[in-house]
Amino acid sequence: MYLDNAATSFPKPESVYEAVLRALREVGASPGRGGYRSALEAGRIVFQARECIAGFFSIADSSRIIFTHNATAALNLALYGILTTGDHVVTTTMEHNSLLRPLYALEGKGVEVTIVPAGSDGIVLVDDIRRAVRANTRMIAVSHISNVCGAIQPIRELSEVCSVAGALFLVDASQSAGHIPLDVDHHHIDLLAVPGHKGLLGPSGTGLLYVAPHVELIPVMQGGTGTNSTAVKQPLTMPDGFEAGTLNLSGIAGMQAGVEFIKGVGLAALHRLQCDLLDQAEQALRGISGVEILGPEKSTDRCAVLSFTVSDVDVAQLAAELDHSFDIAVRAGLHCAPLAHRTLGTLPEGSLRVSPGWFNTREDIAFFSDAVVQCIHKIRSQKGTHEKLHP
Ligand code: ALA
Repeated sequence: MYLDNAATSFPKPESVYEAVLRALREVGASPGRGGYRSALEAGRIVFQARECIAGFFSIADSSRIIFTHNATAALNLALYGILTTGDHVVTTTMEHNSLLRPLYALEGKGVEVTIVPAGSDGIVLVDDIRRAVRANTRMIAVSHISNVCGAIQPIRELSEVCSVAGALFLVDASQSAGHIPLDVDHHHIDLLAVPGHKGLLGPSGTGLLYVAPHVELIPVMQGGTGTNSTAVKQPLTMPDGFEAGTLNLSGIAGMQAGVEFIKGVGLAALHRLQCDLLDQAEQALRGISGVEILGPEKSTDRCAVLSFTVSDVDVAQLAAELDHSFDIAVRAGLHCAPLAHRTLGTLPEGSLRVSPGWFNTREDIAFFSDAVVQCIHKIRSQKGTHEKLHP
């Protein structure tokens, strides 16, 4: 049973598989390369996907969407494409390594970075971010929802801090896109990094970066764009100048099908189901002695994932036991977010994270909860036996 949708969503809707196969089998050509029918059809698929996804995030001009191969690539493009020596960035301890590692690397190139600690519940205080702002703050970069504990950050208020500071607002929507509504105008987002393969239900190898019309981005990769071929310099036109090389046509087609599926089901229905399943899991887990749920106390301040520790049980062992004995896929450890675990007090072991998706049911969660009880019991008894034999 798959319960690791925060890593990548699975299964995908049937329409996603069909769109991928259709693009691979029936179209096959490279979009924007060649004037023959299938190349034009490939170009149409990419254009339609851009339009569909633009509508989903209320993006007025779909050419401001750059397709990437995941959210990490989108974040790297946003950071390397904008920041330069002397710039200052404010970020938080709740970030994934996909944001932190490029920032650490950019520190080596003269970019100043302030990492604002979140509270022990994983939520960042807007005033703390405001206090970290300096005259040279070029960007405030935050993840909308923590991939470790599901804490939802107050992005609307943070965007106001950005506006006052004259800084750009970069939002990592890795765990929020496809889970809760995101409107780039309402949230005043300048740069939005989105994976295609998580909440949007597309295939792996897909993602995008939205760049607001007033933001000037420098390409970080040079190569063929299918346009302006005599220019020796990389074109700065959007989006082609930032999408050098052949695009992931079948992946993009699948990502569009994922977004169409969400539009059909309704984001609100999807969100409601996920909240119900997470609430059900939380209730069951809270009844187990030694279990501590991470993140905000109120479940309405959390989304997408539920993370927990067990006082006397190694979460890695628990996840392995769930896999081996019950074929349950959940992720344990640090989730590529070491500072988040330091903030939540769960270093070095990390936590066990469960993240149901659209295709999970209440029966799945009941099965999972029961399996957790049994695995904890088994691990505790093995430990008791071991301690008796080796006091
Ligand atoms: N970033 C993904 C996760 O949190 C892979 O699992």
